[in-house]
Amino acid sequence: MVNAMKKVLSGIQPSGQLTLGNYIGAIKNFVSLQETHECFFMVVDLHAITVPQDPAALREQSQSVAALYLAAGIDPKRSAVYMQSHVRAHAELGWLMTTLTSMGELERMTQFKDKAAGKDSVGAGLFVYPSLMAADILAYNADLVPVGDDQKQHLELTRDLAGRFNSRYGDFFTVPQPYFPEIGARIMSLDDASKKMSKSNPNAGSYIALLDPPDVIRKKISRATTDSGREVKYDPAGKPEVSNLMGIYAQMSGLSLQEVEAKYEGQGYGSFKKELAEQVVAQLEPMQQRYHEIRSSGMLEEVLREGAAKASETAELVVEGVRERMGFLKR
Ligand code: AMP
Ligand code: TRP
Repeated sequence: MVNAMKKVLSGIQPSGQLTLGNYIGAIKNFVSLQETHECFFMVVDLHAITVPQDPAALREQSQSVAALYLAAGIDPKRSAVYMQSHVRAHAELGWLMTTLTSMGELERMTQFKDKAAGKDSVGAGLFVYPSLMAADILAYNADLVPVGDDQKQHLELTRDLAGRFNSRYGDFFTVPQPYFPEIGARIMSLDDASKKMSKSNPNAGSYIALLDPPDVIRKKISRATTDSGREVKYDPAGKPEVSNLMGIYAQMSGLSLQEVEAKYEGQGYGSFKKELAEQVVAQLEPMQQRYHEIRSSGMLEEVLREGAAKASETAELVVEGVRERMGFLKR
């Protein structure tokens, strides 16, 4: 049977606590896209080890990210949920894609420059990370890749590599499109709206972790930096901090930015922040309950096994096609 549904693929690294930025930028779209697309959602453990990881912490975080996917509403009966390292095609196609990538392209990657800045020793894996990410996407001929704004450049490289392969070896890969949320493609830090919200920020008050207890969430939001003045107005250039909080509000409540603005007209920041915290808690608290149920149910292992089996079926076929076109002997 020919499957006409468009394909979606994305992944998140198991390298620390997931934040509200990951949820709004990526996971929330994963959940909505599975209604209309064939979806593949990975925990990208091979990417996580491009910086040193403690093995026990990596195991724990890998399970945690997979459980959060399910808790957020990804249905493993519809979407493949799996570990990147469980599907061997990723490592194999990653190498093949690395050989198509130029040093100059990798040197221009801003994520690499940021992560390498100030380090005495930088792993070669961190450098070739974008080629592996391209392989992740191309291994399924994915049409759409839901990600936050910070992945734009990696997606551009993926598109270039797909085009390069197609012109060198004949039309084969689908050239994928990024898929960004309309609001919140880049959620900013609570303490500094010039930096993106990130789990690697040493100040835990700068981000909301998806597993933060409700009282911690309330405290972090009440302490979030706000611009001078008191008007709740969407103006990213003039009022970046309030605008960031408004984006979070809109995403948590389902209201538009105009509706949020109208709701708080003339009210000042105090009641806005209080109600924002309640909106966030209302979304995250039930997710946290499901998360703990999933972790204690022991269901993850089977979900990940089935997800990897399903993903391998698609990815293996694509890699075979690539091998053949590149001139490798049949195995
Ligand atoms: P990472 O945690 O780096 O593996 O990122 C996983 C996904 O979350 C990617 O699609 C990122 O673009 C997205 N993401 C991470 N931080 C943010 C943020 N602050 N705002 C929006 N999206 C984000
Ligand atoms: N580089 C992505 C990030 O840090 C994670 C990632 C790896 C990814 N492979 C992917 C995202 C494939 C989308 C598709 O967020």
